[in-house]
Amino acid sequence: MINIHDRLLIIDFGSQVTQLIARRLRELNVYCEIHPYQNVTDAFLAEFAPKAVILSGGPASVIDEGSPRPPSTVFDLNVPILGICYGQQVMMEVLGGKVESGHGTAEFGRAFVTPAAEKLILLDGWFKDEKEQVWMSHGDHVSKIAPGFEVYGTSPNAPFAITADTSRNFFAVQFHPEVHHTPNGAKLYENFVKMAGFKGDWTMGAYREEAIAKIREQVGDAKVICGLSGGVDSSVAAVLIHEAIGDQLTCVFVNNGLLRQGEAEEVITMFRDNYNMPFIYADERELFLGELDGQSDPETKRKIIGKLFIDVFQKHAAEVGGAKFLAQGTLYPDVIESVSFSGGPSATIKSHHNVGGLPEKMGLKLVEPLRELFKDEVRELGRELGLPTGFIGRHPFPGPGLAIRCPGEITRPKLEILREADAIYIDQIRKHGLYDEIWQAFVAILPVKTVGVMGDGRTYDFACALRAVTSVDGMTADYYPFSHEFLGETATRIINEVPGINRVTYDITSKPPGTIEWE
Ligand code: XMP
Repeated sequence: MINIHDRLLIIDFGSQVTQLIARRLRELNVYCEIHPYQNVTDAFLAEFAPKAVILSGGPASVIDEGSPRPPSTVFDLNVPILGICYGQQVMMEVLGGKVESGHGTAEFGRAFVTPAAEKLILLDGWFKDEKEQVWMSHGDHVSKIAPGFEVYGTSPNAPFAITADTSRNFFAVQFHPEVHHTPNGAKLYENFVKMAGFKGDWTMGAYREEAIAKIREQVGDAKVICGLSGGVDSSVAAVLIHEAIGDQLTCVFVNNGLLRQGEAEEVITMFRDNYNMPFIYADERELFLGELDGQSDPETKRKIIGKLFIDVFQKHAAEVGGAKFLAQGTLYPDVIESVSFSGGPSATIKSHHNVGGLPEKMGLKLVEPLRELFKDEVRELGRELGLPTGFIGRHPFPGPGLAIRCPGEITRPKLEILREADAIYIDQIRKHGLYDEIWQAFVAILPVKTVGVMGDGRTYDFACALRAVTSVDGMTADYYPFSHEFLGETATRIINEVPGINRVTYDITSKPPGTIEWE
């Protein structure tokens, strides 16, 4: 493995916001990886060789028997360690302090920390206003700090809000510096990595060079196929791999009849005109729409699409002949989700369409050059590789496409109506300069017809729902707070310009409890 950067290890105890720790560190150009605590063995630590370690928060109570622990050897590595929330408590417990349960000392939400007399390197730039707002989320609290530790900050309900053993460079905070509600939290991470000696050299340019070298090393002179979905991830993966191995790579783009307006043309043009790489366009609209005919159950639709995708992909991949590798645009959140000890929720909620079963069936090995990146880092890499800006900024689009935005039976006329309404909605969002603020926006056509009046006549047409969400990674999301003017104008345009729709609603469900897509 090529490993030229200093590495920071985040040991995950299952906090909802562990990924945000990684984000804050990546923003400081520090290379880090999140690993669930049970994977962090002595052998792992020796191989990973972290320059610093962060112990994340988590839902467990250190008082409970069998609650998660890091290997005790982590404290003998002689590297700086930062414990956060549960990480703080576990650190105290393991190093000889004491943790007790809530009873009036639980703290959830905003709190204010005031400093102790002595200064701490971790808190450089803190306490300019005498107290700092932080975000707490704890039931248990530390009642006795471990030997060697001193107190550097307190809050009304957390007398040991910030503690440290400066002789060993161990730091422990009760709050979450990684969330936005700890406004000066990023500074704390900056101080921590600076003190640990990180150079901050993990840039996208460096990533590109290293990823290319890794791909060449992994693939050798074998052939690689890549299923393009038209989305940003698979496109960036394809361009990166093409830069690494040229025409050893063939891309297969399947039109399943469930793409958005103009999407197939856009993808074909981008790849054929700009990249001159071996490219197979598989027009399989009839096959997919034929098999989906009469199906209305969401899981059945997903399964049919997933299976057909595999069949089609396999058929066309055979044309390439002798491919040994399959390239995928797997991202870091996908990786974390699949290994997280708390278990990724979406796997059981929806059978996400991907090519998961494909490599095994075809005897292919995986090339996943984006495995270490977050979505916005993939976009940055795309820019670095020269992909058109408009393409890179596109909202995510799911593998099953419009099928899951068409609850109930999928018919060609309904898909056509949906495409038109969706194009107008996106046009409106772009015109109002909102596209980049929104994680994902789309229209769903509802399986219900409603009565309306247009001109002097009665209409009996479909209702549709507009969806727009903000999100960091698609795992949680909130609805976008459009103005009433925007919503009114968009509804009017859709009803006037799209025959077949006479009612527009706006979906204001967050995730959870909803999901982003309708199916
Ligand atoms: P949900 O609807 O589960 O979606 O809240 C979260 C994110 O994932 C996308 N999504 C998919 N992406 N294959 C994909 O590649 C799928 O089967 C799939 N289902 C949902 C969704 O668009 C959102 O960005």
